Amino acid sequence: MKLNLNIWRQKSSKDKGHFEKYTANDVTEEMSFLEMLDVVNEDLILSGKEPVAFDHDCREGICGSCSMVINGDPHGPEKSTTCQLHMRSFKDGETLYIEPWRAKAFPVVRDLIVDRSAFDRIITAGGYISVSTGNAQDANATPIPKMDADEAFMSAACIGCGACVASCKNASASLFVAAKTSHLGILPQGSVEQKGRVKKMVAQMDAEGFGACTNTGSCSAACPKGISLDNIARLNRDLLKSNF
Ligand code: FES
Repeated sequence: MKLNLNIWRQKSSKDKGHFEKYTANDVTEEMSFLEMLDVVNEDLILSGKEPVAFDHDCREGICGSCSMVINGDPHGPEKSTTCQLHMRSFKDGETLYIEPWRAKAFPVVRDLIVDRSAFDRIITAGGYISVSTGNAQDANATPIPKMDADEAFMSAACIGCGACVASCKNASASLFVAAKTSHLGILPQGSVEQKGRVKKMVAQMDAEGFGACTNTGSCSAACPKGISLDNIARLNRDLLKSNF
């Protein structure tokens, strides 16, 4: 099939940026979205033009780096990462608009690549366990209720891609921060430091320039890993408790 692409081109964070039109020919349904962009880039390179810069690493839905907005949806129309999105989700002759994440805290580095190091700094502020846990214990040494283990695991599924921020009208990082504080705070090993952790990570989120949460829920709807809004409710409760 053939697709009409409007791709955001921007040389650096200082450049204004603009859409450029491209045609993707010979696209097969089995191709992933990134493979389609690879073909577009091969054509650009062969004709002596600059290829489109886009982030990717695992191409398996694990690393979260393949961030881009496709026709207004972070990661495109399916509930998956862009690397796991296949061209069978599009129709022959369709026109697509491909843009980087739009958020003050995620400045564009080049074309579709944004700087997501704000997330790293939020994790550095408190997304860890600093108590010494000694050697690896026997799995049954600290019994954990099944529901707690499942909830912590589901929160830990966050890959930090930033689709939550890109989908939010306030560019809030609340779902990301809530997932990271939940997966540690639900478990006994992480609950000890939860009060300080929540305070520090929320303060860093604000300092990075992310907006506030107004409970729209677009973050959870756009999340390729289905991180639940319950995490934000838990984050707000933990933040309140941290003041007492
Ligand atoms: S490239 Fe790793 S999640 Fe898409």
